[in-house]
Amino acid sequence: MNKVLNICAIVTMVASSAVAAGDATKGKKGFNKCKSCHMIVDDGGNTIVKGGKTGPNLYGISGRTAGSVDGFKYGKSLAALGETGFVWSEAEFVTYVANPKKFLADKLDDKKAKSKMSFKLKKEADVLNIWAYLLSVSE
Ligand code: HEC
Repeated sequence: MNKVLNICAIVTMVASSAVAAGDATKGKKGFNKCKSCHMIVDDGGNTIVKGGKTGPNLYGISGRTAGSVDGFKYGKSLAALGETGFVWSEAEFVTYVANPKKFLADKLDDKKAKSKMSFKLKKEADVLNIWAYLLSVSE
């Protein structure tokens, strides 16, 4: 009996690890804070959110290599991070959005690291919702 319960617990854990902690519906609204600079356009060129061009397209950000949108001119620091093979995950996204410059300085161990994204959103719950939203439109 215990064995069966354990297997259930493991299956539940594995299944839920792919599910974001945030609320995608709230994140859709939250994305209004980002869309002045970021669009969401899928690989087929279909626009999901019409946004600005100051920042890179955020489609498929989960599991995407940092600084890797073709044709976008990233700052040196974010490009350098991408060259290390760094990939966006929920936790890294939350830390980055809270303070991009500090995030890059910490990751690259370079106090002089620069970020082209000057915007900050510190409220973790809001950023988790936005992540969940980005995940929901990227499938
Ligand atoms: C004022 C414009 C602006 C706003 C607002 C903004 N960003 Fe950005 N964002 C940028 C720019 C510019 C970059 C490129 C940074 C660099 O090259 O250093 C960027 C980069 C990023 C990246 C890295 C993408 C990659 O390809 O590696 C993520 C993730 C991101 N932004 C998330 C967000 C989220 C989430 C929001 C809203 C909460 C947001 N940004 C709001 C301008 C903005």
